[in-house]
Order: sequence, then structure tokens, then C-alpha cells
Amino acid sequence: MIALILIGGLGTRLRPFTCDIPKPLLPVVNRPFLEYQFSILKKHGIRDVVLCTSYKPEVFRKALGDGRALGLRLRYCHETRPMGTGGALKNAQHLLAGETVLALNGDVLNALDVTAFLKQHRKNQADLSIALTRVKDPTLYGVVETAPSGRIRKFVEKPSWDELESNTINAGAYLFEPSVLSRVPPGVNYSLERSLFPQLLAERARLFGYVSGGYWIDIGTVEKYLQVHLDILSGQTPFGKKGLSKGTGVKIGRDVTMGRGTGSIVLGRGTVVKDFARLSGHICVGQRCEIGKGASLEDCVVLDGTHVGDGARLERCVVGPGVRIGAHAVLGRGVALAGDSQVKPYSQL
Ligand code: GDD
Ligand code: MG
Repeated sequence: MIALILIGGLGTRLRPFTCDIPKPLLPVVNRPFLEYQFSILKKHGIRDVVLCTSYKPEVFRKALGDGRALGLRLRYCHETRPMGTGGALKNAQHLLAGETVLALNGDVLNALDVTAFLKQHRKNQADLSIALTRVKDPTLYGVVETAPSGRIRKFVEKPSWDELESNTINAGAYLFEPSVLSRVPPGVNYSLERSLFPQLLAERARLFGYVSGGYWIDIGTVEKYLQVHLDILSGQTPFGKKGLSKGTGVKIGRDVTMGRGTGSIVLGRGTVVKDFARLSGHICVGQRCEIGKGASLEDCVVLDGTHVGDGARLERCVVGPGVRIGAHAVLGRGVALAGDSQVKPYSQL
């Protein structure tokens, strides 16, 4: 089976970090986010992957190449103008060989059992199956109502609270039969969620939901980007919790306090933690960072090449890459601080 990943979004809710690095390549516990999705695909025997790019395509090509180093066959399908989630799929139709396609949003970490999902899709003889999950605030997502048989009755993208009748949402993973793609008009911006799904439902096509109860998060906001780190570091996901890096040029000074209670800490290659620094809770520090003397960090993410000044205090925030934080600075909850970045309008990309 072929997988297709939608990675063309601008990632506006994750600015400033996405000004230079597109969301699917942002590091999550020091690995590009897409690597987590690739590992799930490989686990289920999928090695043929089409990447639908629009924003910063060259950054993806440089980072991932043809995929051989990752044990995959990666092909790219670029939109010079973003075509929307449906338009992106249509644009890639010629690469999909008329098979069932697994399509994924490129910003979701989902412990989905792809094999079971496919089995259910076949059993239902579905035209389209949508993986579903349950969340506390469904208004941020596509809300799906199903019959007891699993057949989808209604799909409402980002409803308001008064429209809500379910907390079950589109988890951003689909199985498509090729016939469904022929319903998408070519060459126009087209949304799966706002146009194709409602249209298919009106035509009484066979749309089924598949509820997967495992870990799920959309990393698309700064808050969720921090949260995915905390979840991985606290072992709440099936995705590798890595311990304190060893033998990678990490230097730890005198009387450094590492962790407290159940916290866990990851330090990237070449990072230096100076004397008397205190790292507590869940912390991820990238490569070649410096944590100053007596600095204190709790539940935060520090991206590559960042210097945290002596005595600075950071709590529940994301900083970097390449940021210099002055001595004794205080960065509290919700801070999202990046270095100089270049946001260009689409016409210049
Ligand atoms: N190639 C391409 N072209 N990709 C796109 C485009 C486009 O024009 N627009 C968005 N994408 C990609 C994004 O990069 C992202 O990986 C994915 O499509 C979803 O876009 P988001 O912008 O992250 O959408 P969302 O999070 O608001 O909502 C979507 O995901 C939810 C689950 O996380 C919807 O599918 C919701 O229904 C769903 O519940
Ligand atoms: Mg999203």
C-alpha cells in the first residue's frame, strides 16, 4: 500500500518556529517529527510514501532526500500554490497507481494500528475510512458523527460549541479507494474536510469511521508542541522515551541538579550544562546548546544552538533554535521565542 502525507501547510499556529522549519520537520525530542510517522508506516510494512509539499519544499528535499537512508522510497508532489488538503491529493493522483491509499496529516502523532484500520476498511467495503479519536475540545477539529455500524452520518469541520453533538473527531488519517479521488476536481484549491466529505455523504458513498483509542496529538500549536515533548518524556506514548544522552559530547558541570520525581531529561549532542544549573520536570535540550551557570529549567524545550544565560529561569516554554537568552532572564509559561527568521510571502517562495 502507498502512503501519502500532507505536509504543505504554513504552520501559522506554530510560529515563530515554523518561519524557517516547516512543522513536519520540527524536532520532537530531537528527531524530525516526520520520523515518528515514518516509523509507524514501516512497522506496518509501508515503504512507498508520497509527500505533498507546498511551503518550503526544498527544506524537505534536503532533509529527507529520496528516503533511502530512512529505509523508504520517498516521492514528492509539489504545489506551487497550496491546493488545500483535497487538491493536494488530486495533484498526486498520478503517483498513486490506482491502489488503496493511506493519507495522513503531517502534524499528527497517532499510535494508529494501520493494519487493523485497513482490515476494517476492507470488511466495510468502504469507499473512504476515517480514523477517529476522542478529544476534550472538539471545536478545534473536524467532528464526526457515526451510526452504531461505524458508518459516518455527519462531518462538520471546526464546529462551534452550540453545533456540537459528539466529541469524536477526524484523527487526520484516511484510507481512500481510487474512485474517491475521481470526485475531486483537478487544478483547484479543494478541501477534503469542508467539500469532499460532505459531498460524499450527500451522495451516500460508503464512509466509515474507525475509532482508535491510543495516544493521539496534533502538534499544530505551541502549546501542543510542548505537550508532545512532555508526553514522550513522561512515557505516556508508545514512542521512544530516550534517556540522558551519553557519549555524544554532552558536558555536565559540577553540582548540576538533574530531574526531580518522575521527570526525564534529554540533552542533544555537544550540549554543555554549566555548574549549579537545575533541570527539573521534563526537559528536552537540542544539540550544541549551553545552559548557563545556575540557570533553572522546568518542563521546557530548548532547540539546537541556544544559549541560556547564567541564572536565567525557564518554565513551560519553548525557545530556539539559535537564541541567546541573557543572564537572569525569566521566561514563563507559554513563551515561544525563536531567533531571527525570514517569513516570505508565497510569491517569493
Ligand atoms: N500539500 C498541502 N497543501 N498540505 C496541506 C495544505 C495544502 O494546501 N493545507 C494543509 N496541509 C497539510 C498541513 O501541513 C497538515 O499536515 C495537514 O494538511 C492538516 O492541516 P492543518 O492546518 O494542520 O489542519 P487542522 O489541524 O486545522 O485540521 C485538520 O486536522 C485535524 C486533526 O488534527 C483537519 O483534517 C481536521 O478535520 C482534523 O480533525
Ligand atoms: Mg493540524
